[in-house]
Amino acid sequence: MEGCLGWLNGEIGPLEELRVSADDRGFLFADGIYEVIRVYGSRPFLLQEHLLRLARSAEGIQLQLPFPLQRFAEITHEMIERAGLAEAEVYLQVTRGAAPRLLSFPLSPAPTVLLAVKPPRSLPAEERKRGVSLATVPDDRWRHCDLKSIALLPNVLAAEQAHRVGAHEALFVRDGLVAEGASSNFFLVRQGTLITPLADWRILPGVTRAIVLQLAREEGIPTEERDIPASELCLAEESFLTSTFREVLPVTRIDGSLVGDGLIGTISAALFTVYHEGIQRFLST
Ligand SMILES: Cc1ncc(COP(=O)(O)O)c(C=O)c1O
Repeated sequence: MEGCLGWLNGEIGPLEELRVSADDRGFLFADGIYEVIRVYGSRPFLLQEHLLRLARSAEGIQLQLPFPLQRFAEITHEMIERAGLAEAEVYLQVTRGAAPRLLSFPLSPAPTVLLAVKPPRSLPAEERKRGVSLATVPDDRWRHCDLKSIALLPNVLAAEQAHRVGAHEALFVRDGLVAEGASSNFFLVRQGTLITPLADWRILPGVTRAIVLQLAREEGIPTEERDIPASELCLAEESFLTSTFREVLPVTRIDGSLVGDGLIGTISAALFTVYHEGIQRFLST
């Protein structure tokens, strides 16, 4: 991809020119973890939170990171500066490295670290203005959805299923309960209370999710983290998704039915505003 600068185990260059071994366990087994960090005004937003989650994911797959989080932070800052992009996304991936193709761990793993700085993805202005639609999809993922694994095939298939019916995002449903989007966390509003699924093994503990919950509490909006039966979706007055790239994105349709009156809700709009105020505060510190 043009304009993408990569750091691959210390080698720096255009992303498309960097090479990984065909024996890499990331390539062969999806044996790795990742993070996506948003850059505003040349500064990585919530970097520490993302790096702590990277460390948690690494621990969850028994992968020893090859250097301390502080070094990951230094490389992130250095690469953002080199890329010269004020608005960007940082993609960070660590795999268990290249080794003979055996499922069990190599005796001395040499992890592959990739960090890429790219122009940020953008959403069509219409989607921000009018809200997006979701399509529910059965959640057939594994029992460690709290780890940010690069094994994303179920998410890929779910996102494609949603795309085919013209929806912006897939909404995973497991055992009759709403989990999360294919690459986002899910919120709904009922009678003024902001409700989102519990952060257990069934969902990724989104960095944006945590900040939005905190901001909502600071705004005096009651919050609940609990199971959401799929049958409750039709009772939502408002709904939105959160993710690093989507920030706070209102949802106005689920499986073809309107959410509430089908317009962007007041709590969703308020949280979008306070989220952006948070970014401005971060940029002014
Ligand atoms: C499955 C899943 N859930 C939630 C999220 C949102 O997480 P964050 O807010 O940390 O970007 C993502 C982000 O990619 C994701 O892949």
